[in-house]
Amino acid sequence: MRAVRYETYGGPEVLHLVDVDEPHAGPGKIRIAVHAAGVNGIDWKIRAGYMSGGSALDSPRGSGMDAAGIVDEVGDGVEGVAIGDAVFGSGIATLAEKAVLSAWAPKPDALSFEEAAGFPIPVETARRILDEVGVQSGQTLLVSGAAGGVGSAVVQIARSRGIDVIGTASERNADYLRSLGATPTTYGDGLVDRVRALAPDGVDAALDIAGSGVIDELIDLTGEASKVLSIADFGAGEKGAQVSTASKDPASAYVEAARLFEAGELRLPVAKTFSLEDAAAAQAAGADGHIAGRIVVTVA
Ligand SMILES: NC(=O)c1ccc[n+]([C@@H]2O[C@H](COP(=O)([O-])OP(=O)(O)OC[C@H]3O[C@@H](n4cnc5c(N)ncnc54)[C@H](OP(=O)(O)O)[C@@H]3O)[C@@H](O)[C@H]2O)c1
Repeated sequence: MRAVRYETYGGPEVLHLVDVDEPHAGPGKIRIAVHAAGVNGIDWKIRAGYMSGGSALDSPRGSGMDAAGIVDEVGDGVEGVAIGDAVFGSGIATLAEKAVLSAWAPKPDALSFEEAAGFPIPVETARRILDEVGVQSGQTLLVSGAAGGVGSAVVQIARSRGIDVIGTASERNADYLRSLGATPTTYGDGLVDRVRALAPDGVDAALDIAGSGVIDELIDLTGEASKVLSIADFGAGEKGAQVSTASKDPASAYVEAARLFEAGELRLPVAKTFSLEDAAAAQAAGADGHIAGRIVVTVA
């Protein structure tokens, strides 16, 4: 089968489309024929070696963690899914014609494979951080970096829970944020004053998605560091804010996301698709950091 591999850490140019042996579903896992693979920030950060702790790569590695496709192998101990089912979920080396998933959910018929491939990491992260920051129905949440993959999922899941959302994005994404149910404002100088004008009674919690160095402003706005959570600023913990990194119960997050999609409450629009041959360009576009919606690689 064809798969994207890299043999050294580096820029997008280290990615190559090669022929490799098919992977197999071990216990508790499934294998899918991949129709589409989602592109996430973590993909290029791993590929660049930022998560390696300084050690070199000792063998060729696949790239990509999210995908949607048709189940073609079911590992020992797996129940509730059969060969031929359409699913979306997360695993390893998903930029390939076949990939092994460790967490998945049935794909709603009305959800395209491309859009479904963009769901897993954003919806798991969104649900986790909304739970961890502890924001409740009727409260006001500030989301810094609301127009990207995680931000779009956070806004919509929060709205489905009855939470009011103020989201930051560039001016060109203001209407997009409105369409998701958030009140938009721009990021940059004057953020605290703009948010106070939109929420005179204050904000109850704040999420830093973009990792753009705004933890002090978010603490100022919530009045308490513990009501601020970051997924991309690892210095936030030193200021008393929460930092969240570890995936939590992904399969149930995917099931909830499918239910919200079917209820018309969650969409993650595909901003751009690439072919498997152009996976390097897809990751480069994702690393740009100014995408509204999702980048997806179409495989079949
Ligand atoms: N810790 C975890 O568990 C976890 C999980 C998933 C992702 N992440 C990380 O979270 C970050 C976001 O991921 P993503 O998939 O949502 O990224 P993305 O889809 O690339 O979106 C990035 C968004 O950030 C916005 N942005 C850029 N500069 C900004 C600024 N200065 N202030 C506010 N917003 C700004 C952009 O909006 P404009 O285009 O309008 O500028 C864009 O919509 C990445 O660093 C990713 O690696 C962490």
